[in-house]
Amino acid sequence: MKYESPYAKGSNNLVRLATNENPYNISDELKKGLLENLEHINLYPTPEDIELKKLIAQKHELAPENVVIGAGADEIISLLAFKYINSENNAIVSKHTFFRYKQLVKLAHGECKEIEEIDFKHNLDEFIKNVDEKTKMIFICNPDNPTGTIISKEEIESFISKISSDIIIVLDEAYIDYAPTNTNESRKDLIKKFPNVVILRTFSKFYRLASLRVGYGIGGEKIIKELNEFRSPYSVNAVALTAAKLVLSQPKDEAYLREIENERSKYYEFFDKNSFKYLQSSTNFIFVSFGTNTKQICEQLREKGIIVRSCNIFGYDNYVRITIGNPEENMRLIAETERIIRGM
Ligand SMILES: Cc1ncc(COP(=O)(O)O)c(C=O)c1O
Repeated sequence: MKYESPYAKGSNNLVRLATNENPYNISDELKKGLLENLEHINLYPTPEDIELKKLIAQKHELAPENVVIGAGADEIISLLAFKYINSENNAIVSKHTFFRYKQLVKLAHGECKEIEEIDFKHNLDEFIKNVDEKTKMIFICNPDNPTGTIISKEEIESFISKISSDIIIVLDEAYIDYAPTNTNESRKDLIKKFPNVVILRTFSKFYRLASLRVGYGIGGEKIIKELNEFRSPYSVNAVALTAAKLVLSQPKDEAYLREIENERSKYYEFFDKNSFKYLQSSTNFIFVSFGTNTKQICEQLREKGIIVRSCNIFGYDNYVRITIGNPEENMRLIAETERIIRGM
């Protein structure tokens, strides 16, 4: 499946609520910090940026040897697939989750076992039943894209403890920064207990660096060493490395987190008022159905320049994923949707 941007080419004035970006750009202070890089554009970036690895390790109470940096979490998914998956083995994924796991496993010529969700969540019991002697990798998207649902730490740990330690378990936490339950960033206990786990994080969402392409994986030393040897030494550019270090050196943007919570509530209120079915979200997006009119509403919103993600691409007809934008964007979406349904 070829990825296509939901935004029309050449349109600048769109309300972009389809790709789960942070609506705010980086601070002026950060921009200034990045400008210093322009003095050294002629030089290759640092291949293994130990300073960034140290900052990441510190955040999760791990060692730099537990960290691999990539051009977005997306590159780490590619590395995992091409390093470990081949025509002799298989990977297990949830059927309607983030499409890249499935796509990359297939590109690496592996078999992909797709497990139907239960109540819009990964069906981990079925995952276990589907493990066989050829299973090499398991992907868990937590919180999940596109549903925004989250599996508790206890459930995850109980699941991992039932899986053989020679199977790599990839926990994609691209949206965990938004989860109200994410109160402890330490992953020390989990990684020490289960070195076959690789956790993915990104700077693209909460940290506002989507266009720079930088993310990372943390996991047991053996797998991380193999991934670091496998990766291209220069895949992450110098500006992205600097930006990642700067954002990690700043305190967490609690105001933005509060705003997301506030805006989420406004959406819930609007959905409740109109009896639209939606799921409680642990992310910066909400999964909602406008019933049989979903497609039509999305098209009419598009005509107004408001773009949301129709979930038929994930296999969920009549559902849409709405990124929580800034208050003005969210208000516009709510007002336009109200106008559209009144006219139906
Ligand atoms: C669940 C999930 N994982 C990974 C990614 C990739 O993020 P990055 O921008 O770091 O490559 C995305 C991007 O939307 C995502 O939704």
